[in-house]
Amino acid sequence: MTTLAPLGATPQFGSTTKKPFGKTPDGQPVDLYVLTNKPGAEASITNYGGAIVSLKVPDHHGKLADVILGYDNADGYVNDKAYFGALVGRYGNRIGHAQFVLDGKTYTLAKNNGGNTLHGGVKGFNKALWAAKILPAKDGQSLELSYLSKDGEEGFPGNLKVSVVYTLTDTNALKIEYSATTDKKTLVNLTSHGYFNLAGQGSGDILGHLLMINADQFTPVDSGLIPTGELRDVMDTPFDFRKPTAIGARVDQPDEQLKLGGGYDHNFVLRMPMDKGESLAARILDPASGRVMEVWTTEPGIQFYTGNFLDGTTVGKGGRTYPRRSAFCLETQHFPDSPNQPKFPSTVLNPGARYHTITTYKFSVEK
Ligand code: GLA
Repeated sequence: MTTLAPLGATPQFGSTTKKPFGKTPDGQPVDLYVLTNKPGAEASITNYGGAIVSLKVPDHHGKLADVILGYDNADGYVNDKAYFGALVGRYGNRIGHAQFVLDGKTYTLAKNNGGNTLHGGVKGFNKALWAAKILPAKDGQSLELSYLSKDGEEGFPGNLKVSVVYTLTDTNALKIEYSATTDKKTLVNLTSHGYFNLAGQGSGDILGHLLMINADQFTPVDSGLIPTGELRDVMDTPFDFRKPTAIGARVDQPDEQLKLGGGYDHNFVLRMPMDKGESLAARILDPASGRVMEVWTTEPGIQFYTGNFLDGTTVGKGGRTYPRRSAFCLETQHFPDSPNQPKFPSTVLNPGARYHTITTYKFSVEK
């Protein structure tokens, strides 16, 4: 059962509590929702940017660690430039030359990443204050966040009504269900930008984590990290993660694509049955703690990013700093620059249709 515990109380197993987390730049209160499941795992989510602030899951001895990078209060998220834990939209990842054409009309967006648009523009969904509602859930704790992105916001057409439901299940999975509707033809590509370190946030690099990505191809990029349109076989490249491989095993190889990304910062084309539910996209193990995370999704792609832009100057939770490659991201999504790539799966949403995708991060241990 979902209960709303009194403010300041220690979270009970199988409950959701709400506490103050700071203020937006214009003075509106921001909250933190702490979802604690029956076995005692915990996910904290703020309604500022919909960010996952912390995620505590057990290791092979049952010891909890917080496996996601973040900040101690709303200010951190207001000033953040790395999208720590955030909900990303209206269009996650890049749109080349900051423009696209829909029904013959050219739409111009902000150039916030070189000459391109990244993660929804200057004020993406990660900087919005979302309305939050605790939902009853049978198998865990659920929080719904909703946001109306107005027609023309950041240059995108259509009033887009977005709802994101986070559920921390009693089997230690964090399920994220995204829905959206529009009143004008538009683009949607939503994702969650968690930076994970399965050894615990702020505890060194992730180069020893063993990663499997269920993909035979990836989308090579140009110097602005925009896909060239090619779907390249991973075979005989450092992008072959079909068998579990240490992230650090090949990350510094003299490979043209790794050089362009400063490491891994690429979209993988997931091997997936169409028209079914979620498929296994990736599995990652931290051998020392035994923590395993599986990513299941209905999306066709996943951006694997090795925190190449982290430089240790950001002060995060508990005063921890986050050096280069101290976390990895696995962002489920449609492919970058899809609006300008006719051969990529479409990111167009029509009025009357419902955007609906699901991604689940399942945690377990391996001894
Ligand atoms: C995505 C991008 C990266 C980087 C991060 C945010 O993962 O692909 O290049 O911009 O977001 O820092």
